[in-house]
Amino acid sequence: MALYSEKVMDHFTHPRNVGVIEDADGVGEVGNAKCGDIMKIYLKIKDDTIDDVKFETFGCGSAIASSSMATELIKGKPLSEALELTNRAVAEALDGLPAHKMHCSVLAEEAIKAAVRDYYDKNGIAYDSEQFPDSDGCDHCSV
Ligand code: FES
Repeated sequence: MALYSEKVMDHFTHPRNVGVIEDADGVGEVGNAKCGDIMKIYLKIKDDTIDDVKFETFGCGSAIASSSMATELIKGKPLSEALELTNRAVAEALDGLPAHKMHCSVLAEEAIKAAVRDYYDKNGIAYDSEQFPDSDGCDHCSV
């Protein structure tokens, strides 16, 4: 069996939503201390819904495929749904990732949460910090 699914290869070779949103409402950047890979997510938010999303990922193929799939999964969705997106759901949508590459999908989940938190912070919107367990100085991300 191939190491990577067709979907992983498709999103790696033709990533969706790559780029920068200059006037983004929320930006989240996370890094993986072990491999040095970095993911940045830009959100445009309208009426509590993700109107547009773009990403820049300096990382491995699994991280790029995960970013691409994650942006597709949250585009047009309410913030509450975006916050519920787990790295497992991203990996499942990609028809799986090899076990030693699951950590790459964690970056996507964390970058989205960091971007939503940035939006809340910039706009003085109160939130439950329990929703952002990984954004407060965990051992493998930079925020
Ligand atoms: Fe670093 Fe995949 S090896 S995110």
